Amino acid sequence: MQKIAFILLFLSFCTSNISLSHGIRTELTHIDAGTKYTKLELLQRMVQRTKTRARFLASRYTDPTSQVSIPSFPSNGEYLINLSIGTPAQPLALTLDTGSDLIWTQCQPCLQCFSQPLPVYNPSNSSTFSDISCDSDLCQSLPHSACHKQCMYAYSYGDGSLTVGSLGSETFTLGSTQIQKVGFGCGFLNAGIFQSNESGIAGFGRGHLSLISQLGYGKFSYCFTSLGESKSSPVLFGSAADLNNWTSGKVQSTPLLSNPAMPTLYYLNLTGITVGTTLLNIPKSVFSLKDNGTGGVYIDSGTGITQLAEPAYKQVKLAFLSQMNLPIANSSNESFDLCFRLPSSSSDKVEVPKFTFHFEGADFELPTENYMAQDDNGTICLVMGKSLDGSTVIGNFQQQNVHILYDLEIGKLSFVPARCDQL
Ligand SMILES: *[C@@H]1O[C@H](CO)[C@@H](O)[C@H](O)[C@H]1NC(C)=O
Ligand SMILES: *[C@@H]1O[C@H](CO)[C@@H](O)[C@H](O)[C@H]1NC(C)=O
Ligand SMILES: *[C@@H]1O[C@H](CO)[C@@H](O)[C@H](O)[C@H]1NC(C)=O
Ligand SMILES: *[C@@H]1O[C@H](CO)[C@@H](O)[C@H](O)[C@H]1NC(C)=O
Ligand SMILES: *[C@@H]1O[C@H](CO)[C@@H](O)[C@H](O)[C@H]1NC(C)=O
Ligand SMILES: *[C@@H]1O[C@H](CO)[C@@H](O)[C@H](O)[C@H]1NC(C)=O
Ligand SMILES: *[C@@H]1O[C@H](CO)[C@@H](O)[C@H](O)[C@H]1NC(C)=O
Ligand SMILES: *[C@@H]1O[C@H](CO)[C@@H](O)[C@H](O)[C@H]1NC(C)=O
Ligand SMILES: *[C@@H]1O[C@H](CO)[C@@H](O)[C@H](O)[C@H]1NC(C)=O
Repeated sequence: MQKIAFILLFLSFCTSNISLSHGIRTELTHIDAGTKYTKLELLQRMVQRTKTRARFLASRYTDPTSQVSIPSFPSNGEYLINLSIGTPAQPLALTLDTGSDLIWTQCQPCLQCFSQPLPVYNPSNSSTFSDISCDSDLCQSLPHSACHKQCMYAYSYGDGSLTVGSLGSETFTLGSTQIQKVGFGCGFLNAGIFQSNESGIAGFGRGHLSLISQLGYGKFSYCFTSLGESKSSPVLFGSAADLNNWTSGKVQSTPLLSNPAMPTLYYLNLTGITVGTTLLNIPKSVFSLKDNGTGGVYIDSGTGITQLAEPAYKQVKLAFLSQMNLPIANSSNESFDLCFRLPSSSSDKVEVPKFTFHFEGADFELPTENYMAQDDNGTICLVMGKSLDGSTVIGNFQQQNVHILYDLEIGKLSFVPARCDQL
């Protein structure tokens, strides 16, 4: 009797250990990967998407979670995560979104589905699909649900995009690892502006429903390859998400903060910005989280270009104006707000001031190519913008070739410069 109990204990220890011990690696492809755009066009498209996303993120404050409205989320993003679900496995390309929690994919039989290149997931072809009951924790975690025999959800995105479906459970395959019983939305009515190649969204937020919460690894990391680079970007979970394993640079860490009004998002404590050797004169209140949930600084996988709170952006712009020894120029396409004319002789060296974000306990000095980009007209432009709602969002462009680790267990974000194409 005791022996059986011991064996069962041992087995359960083994099984949980098997799935958790070695971590997971899978790939992210940029939403524009494989297209024929030039590097500048890729950047301009990123700026457009950032502006769209910023409008939706801002709209979340103006309609403070009213009882009747369905909470809304931004619907666009920058990276698709490569995974598959079901038995046998059906491939999915889901937008990695730290700005929302629900995982969902388009699901047969569709009442209304947008077109996607991959076949639409069909639960009836999978032996591991099951419905999730209405009284489950996951169903209770949905911002808007109803019980019609099964747990139904509606998730709306700020641009009017919407997914409606039922909550199911499936085996997810990431890399070569299978994870059983992951709760996700089987969306049979999906309408609105979704992007070319996505088949749904993988919420990576801090709520119960998100993929990272359900996997139970407690930490994940990613390393974005340069924009336009053909190699995909790795995303790593659990013990595979180890910054020391890959790089020799200095690993720095800063606490993750949370905002009760936006519990999904990963907030950071930004205390200042240095341009060149000048610590900018930005009052602390510019970056602080307000009592009503506005303001603050967060890192967002779906935002392409960093958006600074307006008073901070103004100081950054003034600093570049005074420190770049080049004449001002107009952006060839209104994507950029601040551009400089390059010297006509290519032998003239261009001095670009350094840019450093000072986070609590960590200085993030950006590689030059993470904030300056060449415009096609013999100009270079600052690749940063101002936000619409007083918050500051750290975007992907600023994170290129930096390996970034989200450790949810100890509540820290760590980072180290890296060659992401070599990880
Ligand atoms: C999108 O899908 C098309 C057709 O399957 C493919 O040619 C293209 O490379 C894909 N783009 C991305 C970004 O995956
Ligand atoms: C700038 O270029 C991008 C794509 O290259 C385009 O989508 C956008 O509309 C352009 N913007 C303006 C103001 O011309
Ligand atoms: C995505 O996964 C599929 C199947 O595991 C694989 O064939 C494909 O090459 C992967 N794509 C990328 C970009 O890693
Ligand atoms: C999936 O199931 C549908 C019917 O539900 C069937 O028409 C289709 O052929 C199946 N696909 C595969 C790959 O088994
Ligand atoms: C470190 O990297 C090597 C090779 O890239 C890999 O085989 C190993 O599993 C990694 N170790 C950890 C702890 O992630
Ligand atoms: C939130 O509070 C700040 C000041 O703390 C105020 O300026 C702002 O208008 C408020 N926003 C909303 C949406 O209530
Ligand atoms: C930029 O464009 C504006 C309006 O089109 C024009 O008035 C201004 O002279 C231009 N500036 C430069 C430096 O080309
Ligand atoms: C960029 O080039 C176009 C076409 O050559 C020209 O009309 C425009 O004035 C240039 N922009 C700037 C800022 O010089
Ligand atoms: C942010 O960091 C500063 C400097 O370390 C500290 O004084 C402040 O209390 C921190 N703010 C929050 C909200 O943790």
